[in-house]
Amino acid sequence: MLADDQDIIMPSNFAWGAATSAYQIEGGWDADGRGPSIWDTFCHKKGKVFQDQSGDVACDSYHLWEEDLKCIQQLGLTHYRLSLSWSRLLPDGTTRRINQKGVSYYNRVINDLLANGVSPMVTLHHFDLPQALQAQGGWQSPQIADLFDSYAQFCFQTFGDRVKLWLTINEPYIYAKFGHEDGCHAPGLDQPGVSLYLAGHNMLRAHARAWHSYDALYRPTQGGQVSLALFSDWAEAHDPSSALDVAAAERYMAFVLGWFAWPIFVNGDYPPEMKARVEAASRAQGLPSSRLPTFSKEEPRILGTADFFALNYYTSRRVWPGSGPAKIGFEGDLEVERDIDPAWPVCGNSWLAVFPEGLRKLLKYIKDKFGNPTVYITENGFSQVGPVEIEDARRCRFFRDTLLQVSKAIHEEGADVRGYFAWSLLDNFEWADGYRVRFGLYHVDFAHPRLKRTPYRSGREYAQLIAQNKTSARS
Ligand code: NOJ
Repeated sequence: MLADDQDIIMPSNFAWGAATSAYQIEGGWDADGRGPSIWDTFCHKKGKVFQDQSGDVACDSYHLWEEDLKCIQQLGLTHYRLSLSWSRLLPDGTTRRINQKGVSYYNRVINDLLANGVSPMVTLHHFDLPQALQAQGGWQSPQIADLFDSYAQFCFQTFGDRVKLWLTINEPYIYAKFGHEDGCHAPGLDQPGVSLYLAGHNMLRAHARAWHSYDALYRPTQGGQVSLALFSDWAEAHDPSSALDVAAAERYMAFVLGWFAWPIFVNGDYPPEMKARVEAASRAQGLPSSRLPTFSKEEPRILGTADFFALNYYTSRRVWPGSGPAKIGFEGDLEVERDIDPAWPVCGNSWLAVFPEGLRKLLKYIKDKFGNPTVYITENGFSQVGPVEIEDARRCRFFRDTLLQVSKAIHEEGADVRGYFAWSLLDNFEWADGYRVRFGLYHVDFAHPRLKRTPYRSGREYAQLIAQNKTSARS
């Protein structure tokens, strides 16, 4: 145990978790009546994913849940974050047909967790829209908000007697941008500056509807909490003495985090700078109105539709104002250049520069901007690429450094952080990067017939940290 472990002291009842998502671990893509999702379609097309890999089998958690449970027990987690596969429960996305085998699977998972003293945090939707709903326009269609609400209500009715922490949608920013502008994630749309804002808008509408349904119909008897998991980088001014760089950092935060956090936590609307910029760029293109949709007064309100702040943090960027020719699309609207400080080591994949202080700064930013909410860090992690290192000393260091920063955010900045979920419990299907990128606390041998799980050293140390913290919180 290293000396600085003593400084990682979390409040009592802190949620010590690990996270996964359905498509990334479950496999069983066509087992027992599961309907296809947009990720099945995307992966089954050639050239979309590294080596044309897919989540067809993944960690096979649909058949090997007991193996996952053993990992959860060994880690001593107090919480486990999983997502439900919408099309495993409702094969065509609607409540017209319910797949009882899917219901039984999640009942077993939830019941086993509770029997082991582990609280489930359940994400309703983590990137894997039922293909049948994509065929009707997916997140581009306004009807999706009602369809999502029906699905959410079905889940609250079915599992809400036991699940008390809900997340509606995972990372609407990444889902909208990668899936509906960059085209590198399902559904692979690439209409710059239009489809991502529409998708993001409908995600906010859908989220708000589900929150209102929970609040009115389920909270009184079930007493749980509902939020959505927001992705954010931390942005620093490249030159802190330059007012333009400082403004670029603010703008980056407004477009990445503020896009979804402002409507929910500040005033029911997009950040003013984002609205002004997209409007101006749309006019310059000769469009009659902004590409950024507006919230209608008739809609259920968006403001206040989160019972806590759920944050997925991985990395930071140094930013400065863009100077190139105006591009049409999100990047052109934002007009910010970025790079990685050479002092931040890049781990695994090229986008992941390690800067644990960024998390502390981001937690302070969230406290200051969004009214000191209760925060759960619903994802954070460190990847490996290349030859497997079970003795992953760098990842061990990473978790210690990061948790130390979280501890400082709580004790020195006064951030109200209630939990931390490592991404991920297992090595799994890392979207367009396939199985090349490994984020697990447990190594998965994808060539082994039973997809053998083996703890990395970081998994063993995470377990030690949890045990130690449980003891010190008690004393
Ligand atoms: C966030 C996403 O929610 C998760 O699905 C993904 O695997 C991690 N980031 C790592 O990229």
